[in-house]
Amino acid sequence: MPVIHYTDHDGKTVDINAKTGDSVMETAVRNGVDGIVAECGGSLSCATCHVFVREDQLGELPEMEEMEDEMLYGTSVDREENSRLSCQIKVTEDMDLYVTTPETQT
Ligand code: FES
Repeated sequence: MPVIHYTDHDGKTVDINAKTGDSVMETAVRNGVDGIVAECGGSLSCATCHVFVREDQLGELPEMEEMEDEMLYGTSVDREENSRLSCQIKVTEDMDLYVTTPETQT
C-alpha cells in the first residue's frame, strides 16, 4: 500500500496510507493533514497545496507540467528547487513519498 509521510513546518510527521490514483493533496485533505489548504480542490488555480518533496525523491515523480511550474510562482512561501503542487502528484502503487508542508499556504 502506498504511504505518504507529511512533515509540517515544526517537524511533526504523520504517515498516511494512501489510495493509488488519488493525489497527494486529496490524501492529505481526506485524512485531516494540516498544512495543505487546497482551496481550488485540485484544479490547479490556487497554489495552496504547495509541498516540498524530499530532494532525493524528486526524480521518482513525473516532471511537472508548465502550468504547475507557473502556479508555483504564486505560493505564499517562496518556491524551492523541490517545490511541487501536491494536487498534481498522483499516488502510485508502491509510492513511499516524503513531503514537507510550508509554514503557511495563505
Ligand atoms: S489544490 Fe489548488 S492548485 Fe493544488
